[in-house]
Amino acid sequence: MVRPHDVGPLARKVTPMAHKTWTVHNPEGHRRVIVTKELPGDRWLNILTSAGCRVEVCTSDEVLNGEEISGQIGDSCDGVIGQLTEDWNADLFAALGAAGGTAYSNFAVGYNNVDVAGATAAGIPVGNTPGVLTETTAEMAIALTFSAGRRIVESDRFMRRGQYHGWLPSLFIGTRFHGGTVGIVGAGRIGAAYGRMMVEGHKMNLVYFDIYPNEALEQYVADYSEFLVAHGEGSVSCRRVEKLEDLLSVSDVVSIHTVLDDSTHHLINAERLAAMKSDAILINSSRGPVIDEAALVEHCRANPHFVAGLDVFEDEPAMKPGLADLDNVVIVPHIASATKWTREGMATLAAANVAAMLQGFPLWGSNDVLPFLSGDVPHAAPSIVNAAALNLE
Ligand code: DGY
Repeated sequence: MVRPHDVGPLARKVTPMAHKTWTVHNPEGHRRVIVTKELPGDRWLNILTSAGCRVEVCTSDEVLNGEEISGQIGDSCDGVIGQLTEDWNADLFAALGAAGGTAYSNFAVGYNNVDVAGATAAGIPVGNTPGVLTETTAEMAIALTFSAGRRIVESDRFMRRGQYHGWLPSLFIGTRFHGGTVGIVGAGRIGAAYGRMMVEGHKMNLVYFDIYPNEALEQYVADYSEFLVAHGEGSVSCRRVEKLEDLLSVSDVVSIHTVLDDSTHHLINAERLAAMKSDAILINSSRGPVIDEAALVEHCRANPHFVAGLDVFEDEPAMKPGLADLDNVVIVPHIASATKWTREGMATLAAANVAAMLQGFPLWGSNDVLPFLSGDVPHAAPSIVNAAALNLE
């Protein structure tokens, strides 16, 4: 599909590589910044052009490989906004460093595609975009939870096929959430937001597994429980478990919100799937390889009452053989952060990271990134993950 693309009066198109077209904004800018995908909104672009950047944006929807990116970097490039689909390895950061680059930002909060040590070795700060995905991503995890538990996609297909011939007592029996137990694996910002939504909305008891206690979450649930009791309702609870198995065995719903690293790769494997209730719901909106997807296919085949809702996949964009054939799996294409507000916010934060580094601005130093989203843009970098290693303040 070819989409209309308004590039504005200061833009023109160049095609330096064989198949990819790059749109150039503010061609007279004295700093050269490469953006490997078109980004939503225009605040991000204003931030970069106001910082004196010539901005080159790749208009292709295809994932760029390392050779294409380093070819575009060439011998003079100040900064890059890259994508989670790209392999930002040490060679690429060395190429960026050799071209005079001093800033990189992922257009994502996750940065498992980035060799941060390699970037640090090349002296390049790595930005990411926390703080604008929290509720949006948690809301998608909620949507998957209910789609899976209440069999929305199966029912939709059933209707469209003309199979509905009248109400039946046992048609598409699903899961009741109210008062059940929800388990969150990773109680950071997104996991905690999802947990709170399930507790507040559906009075579920919360169990979480995380290497760090989340005292704020525990206190929140305790206070909410008091509120419920004061209003004549039952209490709710929140507790942290030391062993993942202790969460898996008691949870009606398990939602994954961890980062992907060596310690979380295949965290949910065949044994752990077997430790879950046979009619549990498993949701993943973090990173695909946290679940052994082939084992999940086997498990869902063998346990027709077990349901999974997946936004991410182990070999994205591919799915493991058999996954798409299963009625007890709901699948969406990595869109958990896909709301206008969030994606424009991500673009703004990524641009602010790069612009700040290029202009020698300090770190923002607060989790509240809302001031970047409207009004004057703060003279600071919202989030640089290797700031300490590079002695940035
Ligand atoms: C992220 O930001 O890490 C998400 O996976 C995409 O928005």
